[in-house]
Amino acid sequence: MRIIILLGPPGAGKGTQAAMLSKEFSYKHFSTGQMMRDAIASGTKIGNKVAEIVNSGKFVQDEIVCKIVFNAIEKEGAINSIILDGFPRTLPQAISFDAFLREKDLYKYVSIINMMLKDIVVIDRLHGRLICARCGHVHHAKYDPPKRASCCNLCYGELFMRPDDALDVVQSRLKIYHELTDPLVHYYKNTGANICSIDVDKPATEVYSDIKACLL
Ligand code: AP5
Repeated sequence: MRIIILLGPPGAGKGTQAAMLSKEFSYKHFSTGQMMRDAIASGTKIGNKVAEIVNSGKFVQDEIVCKIVFNAIEKEGAINSIILDGFPRTLPQAISFDAFLREKDLYKYVSIINMMLKDIVVIDRLHGRLICARCGHVHHAKYDPPKRASCCNLCYGELFMRPDDALDVVQSRLKIYHELTDPLVHYYKNTGANICSIDVDKPATEVYSDIKACLL
């Protein structure tokens, strides 16, 4: 049993690394960003509210995110290892999550990977991100370019850009990240959690090796 928390700014490669880990080890991948995008796609009243928040780069309310994540983990049970991509990302979320895990005697399984990346690289990565509408594979215009324009290399599905990857929204996501998520590193270090910091400004395969070394 493992509970891996991927902490890092937008574009750090949390989704990319989570996909690699879950492919190799069959870990269950929980992406709170994807959960929000699924809620948006549902077209419900709540989905429309979430869309306003996400597309402007703000964070969804702590209580809503915690409820969604805790339910998902409870459904999974204490058997499968999980990767959390995008949660927790505020102090209240981290504190509630610690309490939730301690109550279930799962805290001992937590490993946190702190993925460090400069803002300028974040902007470059998100500006070039292209996602396949069919299989969800994430390309990058420069670092993992499609061989055929607008077509996924894996399944030929159509590629699209996320609305929150527009430059002004990325800048506001970064600002909020530094304000609300940066303090989590300090929090985890102070609480004696198992946290490992890595520089992620290197090819995805090298980042992956570093993450695996942290998890040994
Ligand atoms: P979310 O989807 O989680 O967005 P994010 O944290 O901003 O992260 P991203 O998905 O943008 O980036 P990533 O780190 O996964 O990078 P990726 O692997 O795609 O959340 C979206 C929104 O939902 C939030 O803004 C918020 O509104 C809401 N939300 C979610 N969780 C919440 C929470 N807990 N509380 C409140 N609100 C919440 O890689 C990026 C690009 O770089 C890709 O093109 C990729 O191909 C490329 N790339 C990846 N690795 C490398 C590498 N090593 N070298 C070169 N290129 C690389």
